[in-house]
Amino acid sequence: MSKILSVVSECAPQIKTGGLADVAGALPSALAAYGDEMRTLIPGYRSVMPQLGKTKVIEKFDDLFGGPAKLHTCKVAGLELFVIDAPHLFDRDGGIYVDAQGHDWPDNPERFAALSFVAARIAASGAGGWTPDIVHGHDWQAGLTPEYLQAAGTKTPFVFTIHNIAFHGNTSADKLESLLLDADRFDRDHFEFWGQISALKAALMGATKITTVSRTYAEELMTPEFGMGMEGVLRHRQSDLVGIVNGIDEDVWNPATDPSITPFKAATGKAANKVALQKTFGLGASDGPLCVLVSRLTEQKGIDLLLEALPALLDNGGQLALLGSGDPRLEVALLEAAETHENVSVKIGYDETLAHLMMAGGDVILVPSRFEPCGLTQLYGLRYGAIPLVALTGGLADTVINASPAALARDVATGVQFFPITAQALTNALGRICDLYTQPNLWKTLQRNAMKQPVGWSASAAEYHAIYASLAKASR
Ligand code: ADP
Ligand code: GLC
Repeated sequence: MSKILSVVSECAPQIKTGGLADVAGALPSALAAYGDEMRTLIPGYRSVMPQLGKTKVIEKFDDLFGGPAKLHTCKVAGLELFVIDAPHLFDRDGGIYVDAQGHDWPDNPERFAALSFVAARIAASGAGGWTPDIVHGHDWQAGLTPEYLQAAGTKTPFVFTIHNIAFHGNTSADKLESLLLDADRFDRDHFEFWGQISALKAALMGATKITTVSRTYAEELMTPEFGMGMEGVLRHRQSDLVGIVNGIDEDVWNPATDPSITPFKAATGKAANKVALQKTFGLGASDGPLCVLVSRLTEQKGIDLLLEALPALLDNGGQLALLGSGDPRLEVALLEAAETHENVSVKIGYDETLAHLMMAGGDVILVPSRFEPCGLTQLYGLRYGAIPLVALTGGLADTVINASPAALARDVATGVQFFPITAQALTNALGRICDLYTQPNLWKTLQRNAMKQPVGWSASAAEYHAIYASLAKASR
């Protein structure tokens, strides 16, 4: 059994912008099944502090990157949390990474240096009598942790998980001193990246072990197409890099008990949810499949490809219900498509409850991403009998079994994959899924296969457990 400090910028249910939060929120209980104790360190954003209830202050900082701060500990929603209460860094309106206009907060380097710095402090001196055997950081926001561990003279192993390599957390070398970094280590073997300080590179060079969230993404990351400039660093660390696919929280995403839907155990139970979903989106009845998409609206997610390929769905009587928010240009383009086509309906916003109804009522979940380290909505879709139509990349490649003639013949298919990731290939795939939908027996088989595919955490938590155990043993 190991004690692990998880260091992360978002964690469900307290604060979430994407799948990272789901993973951080689900890992502790999944690991508990293997005897590991994971506690989670998060920033005390404005919306987080009031959710904490009774806390204990276990450390005070006179000056944590520009102002006073307190470290709280508490147990909330089954999670053992450490929360950094630093009003000058985290108590503000707007998003957790960006301001109301969508621009990165200019002090993001300090905000997340503080997260990493406190993580190292907990590893070095303990917190409230608890000292981790392992520190596990996620994405660039936890990236400077190994530098601060080194500065504190602490040998605690550091596991780093790449959820999305698109974000590097780079900042100007002028900040070496204010970020409390060792100027002697500002070089290519540590955290220098093209003349800048890179929190991501600090993690990739300093981690004892690197994981990412699917096997295919682990391979892709070492190529120029997907590595986003870090492919060389990752090839250098190849022997310490492993892909472990994400699971989903099977209690939160359980169609048999889900309070946001009309619960069901078999796919036939989806009918009532489909009617409710069509009503919510103002869609009528139609002959083709009701496709749903729930996502951040960014370049990554391939929304523009979908807009281009839409006729292939609509011409076959299909429908689209989409929930998302993000890039204003994509929002406008989607709303225009909804204006133009009666079988397209779009809700701009973030709505956790509606996301559940969409999985329950949708016939198809669309994930046309250009790259996707793991992806979670296709996993929700599988569990709820919404057949995934996905790009062949990253975790989408690893978690969906394409309805090829061979897979159909062997009765193992769970969805449809397309490649290359172009509007033309997506057009073909939409045609294919509409065709499959017209064959009720085949469709039922796909749904049955999808709903019985394991998508929980158990196998992947076992892999993390094994990594922690071997690192803890080696460092004893
Ligand atoms: P990413 O982390 O890249 O955004 P994932 O598929 O891993 O992609 O995770 C996205 C998570 O965020 C899922 O839990 C999804 O349901 C949720 N989500 C994204 N956009 C919305 C939205 N507009 N409303 C509700 N949930 C959303
Ligand atoms: C990232 C990725 C997504 C992954 C999630 C959780 O945000 O974009 O593919 O599922 O992290 O690991």
